[in-house]
Amino acid sequence: MSNKMLDDLDKILFSKDELADRIKELGAAITADYAGKEILMIGVLRGAVIFMADLARSIDLPVAIDFMAVSSYGAATSSSGVVRILKDLDENVENKHLLIVEDIIDSGLTLNYLIENLWSRKPASIKICTLLNKPDRRKVEVPIAYNGFTIPDHFVVGYGLDFAEKYRNLPFIGVLKPKVYEG
Ligand code: XMP
Ligand code: MG
Repeated sequence: MSNKMLDDLDKILFSKDELADRIKELGAAITADYAGKEILMIGVLRGAVIFMADLARSIDLPVAIDFMAVSSYGAATSSSGVVRILKDLDENVENKHLLIVEDIIDSGLTLNYLIENLWSRKPASIKICTLLNKPDRRKVEVPIAYNGFTIPDHFVVGYGLDFAEKYRNLPFIGVLKPKVYEG
């Protein structure tokens, strides 16, 4: 694979084919679990966009999509779990089956806030689908219904995940060399 960004990676964790295979499995599981229902997929911007585009096409049911953008307060206060909504949903979610789609769950604080916030809007159900689960630094437990892969505590990029807005368009997921983010 020739890619100028490959030099910045220690290794590739999941190839394009491995991602595609796993997403087909997730889509099949979601299709079976939600039979007879309609799903409103809620993508968490921006990291989940590429995963969500592929996941939506692997689900054989009526699916609507919407997006939210959230941001934790500065690094110093991120452990407080205070999350700010930068872009809210366009849809009313009352009585709908919500499937939150995330790129990666790390501390769990973002999703913990999001779930609480969305339950207050009286949906019929809420489930979480995350491509990656990084449990080593979990601060609050979140119920994950669908998990692509569990990974160790490395900083990963690609397939939607970025460092400083770079690498999102890599078709695979790789571990970023520490020297890249340590400057
Ligand atoms: P929580 O609240 O679970 O937040 O700590 C998860 C969010 O943190 C970001 N994150 C990462 N982004 N590579 C990334 O590109 C990583 O290894 C990584 N770990 C956490 C990401 O925005 C995610 O939504
Ligand atoms: Mg994210």
